[in-house]
Amino acid sequence: MNKIIYLDAAATALKSRSVIDAEMDFLRNKYANAGRGVCTRASAVDDMVANARCRVAKFINAKPNQVVFTSGATDGLNRIVDIISSQPWYLEKSTFAVSDLDHHSARMPWENLMYRGKIRKMFKCELDEKLDINPNKIPKTDYLIITAMSNVLGRAQNVKKIIAAARQENPDVVTIVDASQYVVHERIDVKKWDCDFMVFSAHKMGADTGLGILYIRDSEKYFPDKFGGGMVSKISDAKWILNGAPEKWEAGTLPLTQIAGIVPALDYLETHRPNLDLIKYAYDELVKIPNIKILTMQDAAILSFVVDGMHPLDIGVMLGAHNICVRVGNMCASWIHQKLGIVGSIRVSVGPWNTISDIKNFVRIMKDITK
Ligand SMILES: Cc1ncc(COP(=O)(O)O)c(C=O)c1O
Repeated sequence: MNKIIYLDAAATALKSRSVIDAEMDFLRNKYANAGRGVCTRASAVDDMVANARCRVAKFINAKPNQVVFTSGATDGLNRIVDIISSQPWYLEKSTFAVSDLDHHSARMPWENLMYRGKIRKMFKCELDEKLDINPNKIPKTDYLIITAMSNVLGRAQNVKKIIAAARQENPDVVTIVDASQYVVHERIDVKKWDCDFMVFSAHKMGADTGLGILYIRDSEKYFPDKFGGGMVSKISDAKWILNGAPEKWEAGTLPLTQIAGIVPALDYLETHRPNLDLIKYAYDELVKIPNIKILTMQDAAILSFVVDGMHPLDIGVMLGAHNICVRVGNMCASWIHQKLGIVGSIRVSVGPWNTISDIKNFVRIMKDITK
């Protein structure tokens, strides 16, 4: 039998049986809309959503009304920019700061604002010799975007220290954390971080696609960006009275099936974090191959590398021909590749389903390919 060796957890995680069962049970036996019905079945869905929100809040150390369900990290990151830039008090002379660790989803919405003349200037946070954001060199800025873990380098950033440094420069700085990769490996504590916004996608941490988490610390400060069902308390020709958070951020029907899967996904994640000894093993083996250049550190959450004289896409195709799935290319993180002077890389990432034999097979094939 041709077994697939899936070494691409950082792109999306395979699903545990508990997540699949919870979604199937919802679809088969419990399906109804939330926030719209009064019958027992609809109320049970309301309870399911409320329970999921409380579980996510506990997971990130927030209050339930600070947790907003979105369709994913990209949606959350774009919405943050839309929310901020559409407030009556928003100033087009503002500045924002990014780093070369960013995923396209984190930085492009801000660059788009800049290219449309809606924000004045972009600063870059410096990276140190380990390619971590240097907390001692945080620029003075109005909005700061922090990638808590790069999807190419896989190192947890010191978010708390970075935010504290940014607040030293400007006490009113608004901080936005992209925790899409970080969430899989480390505990998120939004209170400890002291961030204003935080996002991740549910699918990378073991729940389903089409669902994301957006943490908004101070909901009262912002008028919503989306309008529709479920977010209005009273409406007349002359006036709207909007619901408070989180409803005010959740116009329209929520991705309920995906929400049904998030509690088992969090339970599973908390007891089955990826075994990073597998990454360490792969690192120790690949480092012996002379024409491989490893980009990540031995203790990183992922392993990224390039092969001298071979295009990453070719490596991806060759591994694919042996039923090994890895990610190749620029990984929607062009800036770090540009900084490293390469067009792309090959990334190995593991989930709880991977075994040492998966990694041994991968290493064996890599030795063959690079001969
Ligand atoms: C660091 C980081 N940020 C943001 C995203 C975007 O996530 P999604 O495509 O689920 O919206 C990804 C996905 O690869 C990522 O790795």
